[in-house]
Amino acid sequence: MLIREAEADDWPRIWPFWHRIVAAGETYAWDPDTTEEAARALWMAPVKRVYVAEDDSGAVVGSAYVMPNYGGPAARIANAGFMVDPDRAGEGIGRALAEHVLAVAKAAGYRGMVFNAVVETNPAVTLWTSLGFTILGTVPGAYEHPRFGRVGLHIMYRAL
Ligand SMILES: CC(C)(COP(=O)(O)OP(=O)(O)OC[C@H]1O[C@@H](n2cnc3c(N)ncnc32)[C@H](O)[C@@H]1OP(=O)(O)O)[C@@H](O)C(=O)NCCC(=O)NCCS
Repeated sequence: MLIREAEADDWPRIWPFWHRIVAAGETYAWDPDTTEEAARALWMAPVKRVYVAEDDSGAVVGSAYVMPNYGGPAARIANAGFMVDPDRAGEGIGRALAEHVLAVAKAAGYRGMVFNAVVETNPAVTLWTSLGFTILGTVPGAYEHPRFGRVGLHIMYRAL
């Protein structure tokens, strides 16, 4: 598998799994009906450094971004987002993307990384914890999950 910086023409290969993940409404605090154009503006925003994971056949199987979570004197705290094609879940792609993004964020001078809204029922919490993130707090009942009802949103942090 290859992890590389995304190019503009990668978007059509990100969109199918982006849409599937956001439309499911279980993991991101984005409108499940987000249009493709709005999604591209969100995920490929100029402020973000975007990466894709390509499998050996050249298929784009995951994507991630890193960006400043705050501005000005706090701009060295990063935020990141991750998506892996649900058809390719559990193959280690998410962990590889996360390790890559943590390394490039550190190399870029970020001193820490914050996830602002990790749905507490998301199995990814285990992945983030295993990578050294801790839960700073939880916004109770903030997220209306289609299967579990109102669940909390964790704010997670790791120093770099
Ligand atoms: C979260 C996500 C990026 C993980 O990607 P992945 O390629 O499936 O994850 P990996 O195969 O690298 O698994 C890494 C770890 O995550 C955990 N994990 C991931 N998905 C899991 C699941 N469905 N059930 C249980 N554990 C899971 C496991 O602890 C696994 O541990 P291991 O590396 O010791 O085996 C992917 O599931 C995804 O895109 N989910 C939807 C979007 C999302 O939730 N993004 C994160 C928002 S905070």
